[in-house]
Amino acid sequence: MVDIHVIGARPNFMKAAPVVSALTEIGVKPMLVHTGQHYDAALSEVFFEQLGLPEPDRNLGVGSGSHAKQTAALMVALEDLFGEVSPGRVVVYGDINSTLAASVVASKMHVQIAHVEAGLRSFDRAMPEEINRVVTDALSDLHFTTSPEAEEHLVAEGVSADGIHFVGNPMIDTLVRFRDTFDIGAARRHFDLPDRYSVATLHRPSNVDDPTSAGRVVDGLRRVAKELPIVLPLHPRGRELLNGQGLNDVDGLLVTDPIGYLEFMALVAGASLVLTDSGGIQEETTVLGIPCLTLRDNTERPITVTMGTNRLVGNDADMIESAAVEFLSSPPLGRVPPLWDGRAGERIARILAEAG
Ligand code: UD1
Repeated sequence: MVDIHVIGARPNFMKAAPVVSALTEIGVKPMLVHTGQHYDAALSEVFFEQLGLPEPDRNLGVGSGSHAKQTAALMVALEDLFGEVSPGRVVVYGDINSTLAASVVASKMHVQIAHVEAGLRSFDRAMPEEINRVVTDALSDLHFTTSPEAEEHLVAEGVSADGIHFVGNPMIDTLVRFRDTFDIGAARRHFDLPDRYSVATLHRPSNVDDPTSAGRVVDGLRRVAKELPIVLPLHPRGRELLNGQGLNDVDGLLVTDPIGYLEFMALVAGASLVLTDSGGIQEETTVLGIPCLTLRDNTERPITVTMGTNRLVGNDADMIESAAVEFLSSPPLGRVPPLWDGRAGERIARILAEAG
């Protein structure tokens, strides 16, 4: 029986690519299903092309909606698919709504579930992703973790230690694989940037769904942009609201459409500072040794703070400004967390094959 790997949104693609590739290397052909949660070419197609992910065997075309509508549509489409294919196992990635939907459906159809990036916890249930993580982990049979504290979280929630495997970070596999191809000079020239510049990203509901928070973040970026230029490839979510708060009129801040993985990582690799509310970028900057200010009050990836180059600054403009000044004058010295070595995909593939 075939394993179905379910992916749906941008951060899933960088995590699934090394697993699918390692499985293929050892002669296992997984079925790759794209739910269509992300459908814009700039959030989806470009990643398949650049990361060498095979064309999905199915695209369910589910698209956007409120949490309930999107999750319900995902569940209906996945139930039909699992009914038709009778998978041996369902492999899910990260913490997006597609991850949650696939886990709930597989579980009720008595299909085994493997969760890649299990056990991360922000302990903030106001984040939709936290709910997705907790439910997915409660239902999963195999848990692949990226950092040591994840196992403690899982065991505290009653997960059996037998199915937990500390394998490292597959998103970092993708970084390690492509690192030598990041063209920092081309990225600088493309955006007409000087030697020292910063990169920002924003898409969390806590920053972009409410005018007060969005206004605070825009104020913070305005102050940083006085120190050095910022380039911000902006996720479609919240664009209107951020522009309503003056994002488009900040001197020294260049807002662009979302860009591909290789172009984005080249920008990050050449930056003096990154400001972000993304989860994955906290990890990528840690490995690249780039100072990162996370515009959130908490993180499910604390190892990026304790070992890496990350600091939590929330969305208060004073905090953002003072931390930026500090990080620019004395950049943090980070280390690469254990097993973030580019081999996580191989470890996951081996365990899946052995457990299969
Ligand atoms: C989703 C994930 C989030 C992840 C992020 C990465 C959930 C709950 N959230 O958030 O964890 O960090 O992806 O990008 O699953 N939209 C487009 N084009 C697209 C997709 C979305 O314009 O291809 C717009 C739509 O207005 C949509 C909104 O973005 O309503 C939100 O999309 P959605 O997939 O629901 O959540 P993200 O904010 O992208």
